[in-house]
Amino acid sequence: MKETMIAPSILSLDYARVSEQLKELDESGAEWMHFDVMDGHFVPNLTFGPDILKGFKKAVDMVMDVHIMVDDPMEKAMMFIASGADIVTFHLEAVANLEECVRLCRKIRAQHVKAGVSIKPDTPVDGLLPYLKEMDVVLIMSVVPGFGGQSFMEEVLDKVKVLRREIDEKGYDVLIEIDGGINADTGKRCVKAGVDVLVAGSFVFHGDIKKNVEQLKCGK
Ligand code: DX5
Ligand code: ZN
Repeated sequence: MKETMIAPSILSLDYARVSEQLKELDESGAEWMHFDVMDGHFVPNLTFGPDILKGFKKAVDMVMDVHIMVDDPMEKAMMFIASGADIVTFHLEAVANLEECVRLCRKIRAQHVKAGVSIKPDTPVDGLLPYLKEMDVVLIMSVVPGFGGQSFMEEVLDKVKVLRREIDEKGYDVLIEIDGGINADTGKRCVKAGVDVLVAGSFVFHGDIKKNVEQLKCGK
């Protein structure tokens, strides 16, 4: 059985103790750093730019998992690739159609970076199924994107199950990631439904980072 990977969302980092927390994170056993980019348009909140990514990449030995919640993913994807993203995940809702979605995945992969596609809780997953081989990650949002600390939306697990079945049946090399309201309890239900990567912000950074990551990892 594959081990669940953990992607702490640095949206919940304590910005008064950045270096201390980055060190703890680096030693926590979490594999990916989830870096939430928000532009104040696609979502109401505003967060980090590429220079922060560059700096954080130097501070930790982790996969830089960049989730861009922006209106112009074509342009912003390239900006974050230039600053060290290992994975760039954009929103299906932010591109004109599935053709453009595939075009952006190919553009990201052409830079030797992994391509992820995210869908909001209300967006069905079915449209993506014929195109799964074009992407490396599907990120299922389990809250409305924009803010940390919201409650997990259980109903999105139906989409996870559909994806899991399709990926396994066709033998695709695609990871299922989930983002929003993840704690030891909801994380366990996600893994059971077929999730490979758990994003968690509030749960990881409130309290002991290493202990919280461990709890998420053994929540099978
Ligand atoms: C929400 C972000 C998430 C968020 C998760 O728009 O994409 O990554 O930080 O935070 P928690 O784990 O607190 O729900
Ligand atoms: Zn995110």
